[in-house]
Amino acid sequence: MSDSLAQDPVYKTETLIAEDIEAYLDQHQHKTMLRFITCGSVDDGKSTLIGRLLYDSKMIFEDQLAALEADSKRVGTQGQEIDFALLVDGLAAEREQGITIDVAYRFFNTEKRKFIVADCPGHEQYTRNMVTGASTADLAVILIDARKGVLVQTRRHSYLCHLIGIKNLVLAVNKMDLIDYDQTKYDAIVANYAAFAKSIGIERFTAIPISGFKGDNITTAPSANTPWYTGPSLVAHLETVEVLSSEDQAKPFRLPVQWVNRPNLDFRGFSGLIATGAVKPGDEVRVLPSGKTSTVSRVVTFDGDLDEGVAGQSVTVCFADEIDCSRGNVIAAADAPPQAADQFEATLVWMADEAMHVGRAYWLKLGTQMVSTTVQQPKYEINVNTMEHLAAKTLQLNSIGVAELATDKPIVFEPYAENRALGGFILIDKLTNATVAAGMLHFSLRRAQNVHWQPLDIDRREHARLKNQTPRVLWFTGLSGAGKSTIANEVEKRLNLMNRHTFLLDGDNIRHGLNRDLGFTEADRIENIRRVGEVAKLMADAGLIVLTAFISPFRAEREMVRKMLPDGEFIEIYVETPLDVAERRDVKGLYKKARAGDLKNFTGIDSPYEPPENPEIRVDTVAMTPAQAAEHIIRAILPLK
Ligand code: ADX
Repeated sequence: MSDSLAQDPVYKTETLIAEDIEAYLDQHQHKTMLRFITCGSVDDGKSTLIGRLLYDSKMIFEDQLAALEADSKRVGTQGQEIDFALLVDGLAAEREQGITIDVAYRFFNTEKRKFIVADCPGHEQYTRNMVTGASTADLAVILIDARKGVLVQTRRHSYLCHLIGIKNLVLAVNKMDLIDYDQTKYDAIVANYAAFAKSIGIERFTAIPISGFKGDNITTAPSANTPWYTGPSLVAHLETVEVLSSEDQAKPFRLPVQWVNRPNLDFRGFSGLIATGAVKPGDEVRVLPSGKTSTVSRVVTFDGDLDEGVAGQSVTVCFADEIDCSRGNVIAAADAPPQAADQFEATLVWMADEAMHVGRAYWLKLGTQMVSTTVQQPKYEINVNTMEHLAAKTLQLNSIGVAELATDKPIVFEPYAENRALGGFILIDKLTNATVAAGMLHFSLRRAQNVHWQPLDIDRREHARLKNQTPRVLWFTGLSGAGKSTIANEVEKRLNLMNRHTFLLDGDNIRHGLNRDLGFTEADRIENIRRVGEVAKLMADAGLIVLTAFISPFRAEREMVRKMLPDGEFIEIYVETPLDVAERRDVKGLYKKARAGDLKNFTGIDSPYEPPENPEIRVDTVAMTPAQAAEHIIRAILPLK
């Protein structure tokens, strides 16, 4: 490790997390843990509050403390008080310069509990960070500046926390010292917030008047300055609030299987965190999605067998008999299993810089289950400041919307409102592996359950055998005017002379019929290629050698079609013509129009083209004539049987 990195306070915080967490957890093993998130901005006094929590629990490293005291003197804080904000903001400033950490987690503990606090920036452009921090939190502290009362951002933070399903909300009315600890003003703020909270479905919250700066009602309550307040201090509340809700334990048993524990032939168990309910030896359980049932023989933990495992515990469950069960399955109460479905309505929080592509296939990861999914055009987007529903064609970074999605296989799920573990998911970009969205399932759509696959007796093998050839999809891709149609046409003629059964699907022609409802927006191009992919697949199923000539500008959709076909049947042919060459040829005069601004979204001009990274075949149209290119392709795909 380089010295400069070791000097970095942020790096140190992270090192503490990595290296000391075990020691830390060991030391405080007997204590329960509360994860919480603080919502608010620097103006609300958030940094001061977190700094004080850390300071009062002695979690500030000594060298940092010395620096802090020196800094506070330098900036001239009133009196002898330390400016706690300097500590947290100092870390934040450092973070912005270098290593990017989306959410800063800090640890502290008191006599009664250990805490992990997620500190997220409060501005609207950080919605994704807040959602990330909130997703693992048991409680949220919503910070309000007593001088300002409930603001747009207070509503946004509360809405997000409620959306993510945080049941314990604390309304920390801060800077009470600056309104002279005025009870009337405090009561008015709380009443105002209560009305808003009710309107968005928040059932309860705990309001506490505090001063992060002076320390009122932070660790000891009631403060002499607020004799009218009889509730707990912030820390007292954090120490005693119920973490594992009895509601979760009262629900039917669900255990998403994280891994199969099989150290030797004598032991086979299924490990994971109990999401809801309880389990004990003798219980009848059902494994989903297979639906097979068994009886629990043991509930094992690190410290030995349990009489009963409950929600929030990590356990290994053993069965009385050897039924199939693997990672991604869910073990549930036999008489109250969750559903499996493949079409849903969900809320999505878009977290990627690149907007959502309607119709594109993403990975959907729900707990340990991973399936492919496509998202429809949103039904609406939610304005996070006013909670209004707005029409939307897609979702941009930090926007939240409701949309329907379809998965390629059924997943075991429950509505998010009932079960966070089985209703919360993320979407992952298939090419970059980046998380692009967080989602919450509402319910499944019934129509999916009534459409089944019809097994066919004359299958694709039989069709191909009769035609005496191996089906192929020769997928030509390249810029407009690259020469795709011309070369594909040449290839088809040659295949014809070789008595092969072929069919050529061409962009311009398909757009007159099947796809005449589609234009050239990204969403329409994705849908264009999806349909063409499905048609090409049907034709390959019928035993044909299919040639397709479409710009097909996006890697994701070309990969999607590749995956629809058996290995080796999809042959990507990159017709490589530099933009300036295609533009000079301008066979259809479209480049000229596009340059003049008369044709919008033109590929290569104001709409992107993503060249293939590893095409099976590459043809250079500057070096080869169409006839030579066709020869080259034919030679590359032989033999055809
Ligand atoms: S794709 O992007 O969805 O794959 P496709 O291959 O079907 O495109 O259609 C491309 C053809 O449509 C071009 O060869 C051109 O003749 C015509 N066209 C009309 N408008 C556009 C445009 N804005 N961008 C690209 N091609 C266009």
